[in-house]
Amino acid sequence: MHAIGVDIGGTKIAVGVVDEAGTILAKVRRETVADDVAGIDRAIADACTELAKEFEVGAIGLAAAGFVSPDRRAVQFAPNIAWREYPLAERIEGLIDLDVPVVVENDANAAGWAEFRFGAARAATDMLMLTVGTGLGGAIVVDRELVRGKWGVAAEVGHMRVVPGGHYCGCGHEGCWEQYASGTALVRDAKQAAIAQPARAARLLELAGGDVANLEGPHVTRAAQEGDPLAVELLATLGRWIGEGSASVAALLDPELIVIGGGVGAAGDLLLLPVRKAYEAQLSALGHRPVAQIELAEHGNEAGIIGAADLARR
Ligand code: BGC
Ligand code: NA
Ligand code: ZN
Repeated sequence: MHAIGVDIGGTKIAVGVVDEAGTILAKVRRETVADDVAGIDRAIADACTELAKEFEVGAIGLAAAGFVSPDRRAVQFAPNIAWREYPLAERIEGLIDLDVPVVVENDANAAGWAEFRFGAARAATDMLMLTVGTGLGGAIVVDRELVRGKWGVAAEVGHMRVVPGGHYCGCGHEGCWEQYASGTALVRDAKQAAIAQPARAARLLELAGGDVANLEGPHVTRAAQEGDPLAVELLATLGRWIGEGSASVAALLDPELIVIGGGVGAAGDLLLLPVRKAYEAQLSALGHRPVAQIELAEHGNEAGIIGAADLARR
């Protein structure tokens, strides 16, 4: 059976029809605004209706960047989108003229599931997936099962505290891991560097059209790929935060594989090598235990769509 997967981000949604082998057959995108939750609903319904005209689909999976209820119908809370006790599945059902089950999944759980079934972790039994984007998402597979927790909100690793008294987080606390290991953190640090060290940031500023406010993650990646020292350093710092935090997670879970997803994956080894180095540096009992492999996601930004669709037909 084909299913529709919807990846809902803060600024856009990506919607695809996915077959049982995890292949995306067709895809559409819509722009959204993070605090306009009704607008997000309409964009989702619209895109689903459009795709369902061309393909027969048996289920719809919505990958949402937030804490999802255990019945997989609602988003209880989201740090970066204005959902609070939001009955997302019901709202979408009310807007579409399709008689198929609508299921909500955490976005990172969906992406992790896609990598586990069809991607970088297909041979693994125990994995941690981190999605590095607006926030930091997590998915945990233990002994081939997705770990959901008692109330559906396991693997919210982005909100583990890594810096007492650190940066304020959208979840209401301070010093959360996602304030250091996310695309948002990368851009924040890049902007700060551009103001504090304008000479070193010349190339970054140029890529941003001369305006610090326009600086974005892909500018940092591009500059780093050209060899720009500041950009290389910014990615290495991000990688260090990802790697060190992953070592703490390994103390709890002992994964064999850690998969890194999200837009920053485009930086390749410029990110991955610092992640691996920091992971080993921070791993307890190094030399007396196997070291987990750390790899980039295979499905990039499409993992959320694929995983949401696949989980919806289960
Ligand atoms: C949210 C998670 C989400 C992650 C990635 C975090 O801020 O709490 O639910 O998976 O961002 O989008
Ligand atoms: Na998750
Ligand atoms: Zn937080």
